[in-house]
Amino acid sequence: MDKKIFSKQLSVLGLDVQIFDTLDSTNKTAKALSDEKTQALVIAKEQTVGRGRLGRSFYSPKGGAYFSLLLRPKLSPQNALNITTAAAVAVCRAIEKLSNKNPQIKWVNDVFIDGKKVCGILCESAFSREGTKMDYAVLGVGANLFPPEHGFPEDIKHIADSIFEKPCEELYFDFIFETVNEFLNMYNSLEKADFWEEYKDRSFLIGKEISFIKNGENKTATVLDIEKSFGLVVKYKDGNVETLTTGEVTIGSGNVKT
Ligand code: BTN
Repeated sequence: MDKKIFSKQLSVLGLDVQIFDTLDSTNKTAKALSDEKTQALVIAKEQTVGRGRLGRSFYSPKGGAYFSLLLRPKLSPQNALNITTAAAVAVCRAIEKLSNKNPQIKWVNDVFIDGKKVCGILCESAFSREGTKMDYAVLGVGANLFPPEHGFPEDIKHIADSIFEKPCEELYFDFIFETVNEFLNMYNSLEKADFWEEYKDRSFLIGKEISFIKNGENKTATVLDIEKSFGLVVKYKDGNVETLTTGEVTIGSGNVKT
């Protein structure tokens, strides 16, 4: 779809849309809108200070789709992760609709194709003073839609890829629309996490050996399952089973990491 139809379709969904050529971070801009707007969608063609999880930066050159949804979820803080996991499912559905690729989810919130990351998700939430209610959430999606003009930088080119081979403006707007639409279809029942089975079916990790750091120690374990609360159930070599609720895992026992 073209930009005009895109904006029209989104206004049908009740979203105020702002599109920028360049922003420091769409998450930052969407957060700043939280005083004046209930919901909004902020899009940038590139970001100069794209934010990733765990305080990292997110490489955001032209060719990617970078957008943030300002939301008012009726969710208890302990279910806040459902926003991120629903978004990962929405991204996979959008990719499948627009390509013949087979996207998979790397717990918690990365989307991979053929073993390489094509999309990252960062949800930043603010809670009421008592911490019992969510005031707002900013859901940020960064997808490598098309190859960057000068290729991926040396440090990430072995782990990153783009979804499509050639730039195409129609696909750019299609992708954002499909992702937002799929996400909004799940939005009103996020608390129930009805998409959990689908999230599990799309998991890139179940059955694989992973490594992670726990209490400062390197650990290796095999992924058994993903709980309905989206905890990652892992089994150590000694037979002990544990559920991971946060953090970052890498595939492999230490040498080859993703
Ligand atoms: C990650 O992979 O660590 C998460 C990356 C999330 C990047 C998106 S791009 C749109 C939004 N704005 C940001 O600054 N970050 C998110």
